[in-house]
Amino acid sequence: MPSPNSSTFHEFIALYAARSNDLLAAELQREYPSRRLGEAMNYACLNGGKRIRAILVYASAIAVGGRIESADSAALAVELLHSYSLVHDDLPAMDDDDLRRGKPTVHKQYDEATAILVGDSLQSLAFEVLTRKTLSVSPAVNLRMIRLFGKATGAMGMAGGQAVDFSAAGQDLTLEQLEIMHQLKTGELIQCCAILGALSNPKVKDEHVTALTRYAQRIGLAFQVHDDILDETSDTETLGKPQGSDRELHKPTYVSLLGLQQAKQRAAELCEAAIAELDGFDDAAQPLRELASYIITRKN
Ligand code: IPE
Ligand code: IPE
Ligand code: MG
Ligand code: MG
Ligand code: MG
Repeated sequence: MPSPNSSTFHEFIALYAARSNDLLAAELQREYPSRRLGEAMNYACLNGGKRIRAILVYASAIAVGGRIESADSAALAVELLHSYSLVHDDLPAMDDDDLRRGKPTVHKQYDEATAILVGDSLQSLAFEVLTRKTLSVSPAVNLRMIRLFGKATGAMGMAGGQAVDFSAAGQDLTLEQLEIMHQLKTGELIQCCAILGALSNPKVKDEHVTALTRYAQRIGLAFQVHDDILDETSDTETLGKPQGSDRELHKPTYVSLLGLQQAKQRAAELCEAAIAELDGFDDAAQPLRELASYIITRKN
């Protein structure tokens, strides 16, 4: 397994996280009819997220020989959508968390109505961004991307998974049910990131899209397994969000169901399986291999 500590990979992450931050800042700098809403949208997005989803879009585009500029719209769209999901996830009606990315959550800093509207607005903006011409793909491929994005984030994907998560509090899920919930609430968007990155190259081969889909399905699940582990083992300062939130809400997690050791084992297996899906790729997929390892070793 490649070491996630190699300096080139850290440079890679820093480079594309910075690119993503710049795109977000440029996009959100507008004259809004409601200054408060605009300010809160900026607050929700420009607050130190890791930008893993944007990095995955770029790394996937690179793996299939695509151009970085062609992946910008998708990278921006996925981080806008993800930021919306966090704002809503933290609401009192959902996980009721007060801290996100080391700062008060949007409903704490502003108010609940503003937080709901921030989520609505970021979600709409994400779809608008994904229609941009900079994608340099045909209208048919662009439509395919928008359709995939909608499916991954709606009731059949992320929002559906959040609904299952909400109703599972205090319940005993089977491992299979837990895995489906994780796949939906977190895995679908992560999987979509890899596909969007790949499709941003108009010349991408179908077998590469298929392999990247399988890779990302595995890292998407591993991502949430590791998030569950961090909720149990880390601390609030390192995480930038309240440690122990899952336990407090009696959420079924990989750790609550399997115990810490088996949860770690499962994350490692998924990471290895993900990397194996990249066998048909050359060195251009190295950032993706290292990203898989990073996802299960990250500290926050
Ligand atoms: C947190 O995602 C929410 C989950 C899906 C588990 P990240 O850990 O990617 O959050 P940020 O964007 O870096 O804050
Ligand atoms: C959130 O899962 C998944 C989303 C769709 C936002 P969590 O509730 O575990 O995310 P954190 O731990 O609050 O970041
Ligand atoms: Mg949640
Ligand atoms: Mg949460
Ligand atoms: Mg969590």
